[in-house]
Amino acid sequence: MSTASKTRHKYEIVAAGIRATIADSLGPNDALPSERELMEIYNVSRMTVRAAIARLADEGLVYNVHGSGTYVGSPDLFAKAPKLTSFTEDMVSRGYAPSSRVLEVSRVAAVAAVATRLGLTPGEECTKIRRLRLADGNPMALETVYLPGGVLPMEEFDAKSSLYGQLTDRGYEIHRAEQEIHAVTLDEESSGLLAVPLGSAALEIDRVAADRRGHPVEYARTIYRGDRYSFQMAVSRES
Ligand code: GLP
Repeated sequence: MSTASKTRHKYEIVAAGIRATIADSLGPNDALPSERELMEIYNVSRMTVRAAIARLADEGLVYNVHGSGTYVGSPDLFAKAPKLTSFTEDMVSRGYAPSSRVLEVSRVAAVAAVATRLGLTPGEECTKIRRLRLADGNPMALETVYLPGGVLPMEEFDAKSSLYGQLTDRGYEIHRAEQEIHAVTLDEESSGLLAVPLGSAALEIDRVAADRRGHPVEYARTIYRGDRYSFQMAVSRES
């Protein structure tokens, strides 16, 4: 078993343990045991405890109070919408170390499908970024992103840092997004890059993301390896 899957396995076990404790003996706003106590209870590292808590916080099951600790959320918190994360944040919350390999950064004219989603006129200038996204050094996703040229000119993209971090620094903090998730099978190029057999199943998540003003700033198609990635969300019958 690789280090990557061992790490994931451990934090998922810890998260499941904490979920059971909450269900059995804790109520809304009760404090969870401290990080140190959880490290001892589950005999795991601080990083594993933090990854487990980050996952539960993403689900809305717990919340952190800076400098105080972690507390059990209330049912309305649990029913909140899934969090909009960058690849970097998503991987850290799953206990992986994220990295990227840039495959392409280019200036392109928006074709109709891109222009419609970004609120541009077909032919307007866009920056296209294609990256292989890695988790603990192993391929996890293949991502193609289009941004209006004025939001991020291709020359100014920093290949080494988070795209969402750069957008925030430029005044285009991603605030909300519409997503569509569907199944795909991988062709020769994408299966080669993702290091899985030709024809493997994968999960494609298409996202149109907007800044706080509601202006679309990103259209992304991200293809996740079906054997390494699953997408979770809390759902509720309350309207
Ligand atoms: C996810 C999203 C993409 C987004 C990317 C940014 O993968 N599906 O739409 O472009 O995160 O990630 P980062 O900020 O780590 O570069």
